[in-house]
Amino acid sequence: MSEALANLLNETRQFPPPAELAAHANVTVDAYAEASADRLAFWAKQADRLAWSKKWDEVLDWSNPPFAKWFVGGQLNVAYNCLDRHVEAGRGDKVAIHWEGEPGDTRTITYADLHELTCRAANALTELGVTAGDRVAIYLPMIPEAAVAMLACARIGAAHSVVFGGFSADSLSNRIQDASAKVVITADGGYRRGKPSALKPTVDEAVASCPSVEHVLVVRRTGEDVAWSAKDLWWHETVETASAEHTAQPFDAEHPLFILYTSGTTARPKGILHTTGGYLTQTSYTTHAVFDLKPETDVYWCTADIGWVTGHSYIVYGPLSNGATQVMYEGTPDTPNKGRFWEIVDRYGVSILYTAPTLIRTMMKWGDDIPAGFDLSSLRLLGSVGEPINPEAWMWYREHIGRGELPVVDTWWQTETGAIMISPLPGVTAAKPGSAMTPLPGIVADVVDDQGQSVPNGGGGYLVLREPWPSMLRTIWGDDNRFLETYWSRFEGMYFAGDGAKKDDDGHIWLLGRVDDVMLVSGHNISTTEVESALVSHPSVAEAAVVGATDPTTGQAIVAFAIPRGTTDIAGEAGKQLIADLRNHVSKTLGPIAKPRQIMLVAELPKTRSGKIMRRLLRDVAENRSLGDVTTLQDSSVMELISSGMSGAK
Ligand code: WT7
Repeated sequence: MSEALANLLNETRQFPPPAELAAHANVTVDAYAEASADRLAFWAKQADRLAWSKKWDEVLDWSNPPFAKWFVGGQLNVAYNCLDRHVEAGRGDKVAIHWEGEPGDTRTITYADLHELTCRAANALTELGVTAGDRVAIYLPMIPEAAVAMLACARIGAAHSVVFGGFSADSLSNRIQDASAKVVITADGGYRRGKPSALKPTVDEAVASCPSVEHVLVVRRTGEDVAWSAKDLWWHETVETASAEHTAQPFDAEHPLFILYTSGTTARPKGILHTTGGYLTQTSYTTHAVFDLKPETDVYWCTADIGWVTGHSYIVYGPLSNGATQVMYEGTPDTPNKGRFWEIVDRYGVSILYTAPTLIRTMMKWGDDIPAGFDLSSLRLLGSVGEPINPEAWMWYREHIGRGELPVVDTWWQTETGAIMISPLPGVTAAKPGSAMTPLPGIVADVVDDQGQSVPNGGGGYLVLREPWPSMLRTIWGDDNRFLETYWSRFEGMYFAGDGAKKDDDGHIWLLGRVDDVMLVSGHNISTTEVESALVSHPSVAEAAVVGATDPTTGQAIVAFAIPRGTTDIAGEAGKQLIADLRNHVSKTLGPIAKPRQIMLVAELPKTRSGKIMRRLLRDVAENRSLGDVTTLQDSSVMELISSGMSGAK
């Protein structure tokens, strides 16, 4: 993919697992051999970690690719696996969720409590006419009821469609309509940045254009006044008064579990469909393998929102199916102060932390002294997901959060893959900062060139998955053609992930971002991720975004936006000097071809609500165009700031 830019591959640091962790790891190196000897037998063994009401007849039916059927003929109930079986085994008193509201209110919910709440919700939904096969939309803040609502749907075989609470009425309405949801579960609001943030008015507006919706179930969280219509019911009057007795019925392994719309920055959202047996098998196994989760002793915390797939797989289904104790936090990391995350780690003794590069870089920007003020000695494993993590951010995470000793697992996967696919195993892999390393046991990933040929070590191209996996998406809801077109038409017989990647000389995989984010400068392919990593490796830069802007001479030219770290002086001459230094630094690190034409120092970057940088908007700025659609931006004022600064910088 880029001859001139082999430099990211020159990363020589490598960190073997801590001896203690390796000695007691849930999964050892043998898993790779076992899976490559017989992949389907390997997955059958992982499926056996779950409780099945009826055993499958066949592990995989791939007779009509790419429409997969896993664990054909098997039957199970997902909520039973996440709740009842732990209670029945005498672990009902174990804490499932240490919940912390943004204002500081807390709830401690045991497995017995969560089971009871879920049974009541399942009965309430049934009374409202929801039956197996129906769809229920969930639009909630990060409160325990979000997990309860999902589990209650799973329990009665209704597919949930969780819509992130930050989405607009239009987005919500489109998603409700696409899935013809019968019931919407929401709240009056939640707390964000120190104040109540209403949700119900958005639902009211959305539901007005959704004839499929028969009832709206409303959790009271903030206590603020809400408008009320004939469809509305209070959760506390409906769910909390319903019977706590409910027997979970088994469902077919391929019964739909949920639809989740990908947050795509451009195209119409796709309703990614996940089903029951394969999805739970892989989310459960990867939680056990990648996080080395020991349910008896660990306190696990995934900082994602339940509205994203990370929250589905690694707050609800993965951890609960393993009987984990976890932390769930409602609010933002800087409310009431920038130490909030570390205070939570300290208070609950969090041992496994799973978060996103965007947060790690934000913490870097806020300064090392903030985490240094807390006792983080309970931590034993750190995870990252959502974007390529720059080597410097990886190192900062290990040094400043992980005491310079903890393993960092960089986990690559997608809404579509359902569960982690490429990642170190913490007790096995000597991880390299910035690399997701190798496919997990049972996963067959590769990097191929334009023609779909596997590239040799040292080469770059497109990331593909060569074999079906248990938690793979089954289709795009209501649109099999789009499913075929989007993922299976680029390369014959392979799943095309849409990401660029490289194999280093050891064959380890480095993710380079979405293929749309590759620039063509004077005939050289240069990945935005590489230039961003080079910028972030400079001590004065906390975060950077790079785009290719049309250039009369070079075809595309590199334009960079960089957020200075901590207290860096950027006024007047100091700023100009820093920009010059940074251009030279990139040139030295990656080669002169990668030297940005322009660098702009900014205070913030435009991000989607899931924390991904919206390069499309930065490209608009860099090419002096008026801004495209900004509705999926987390903070729309960011773009005004950047645009005004840009015209001054030219
Ligand atoms: C895209 C999927 C997976 C849950 C959150 C995102 C990027 C994700 C990594 C990683 C490099 C990553 C890819 C992928 N991505 N994890 N560890 N290293 N890139 O889910 O919203 O469906 O996004 O996120 O580009 O295709 P998603």
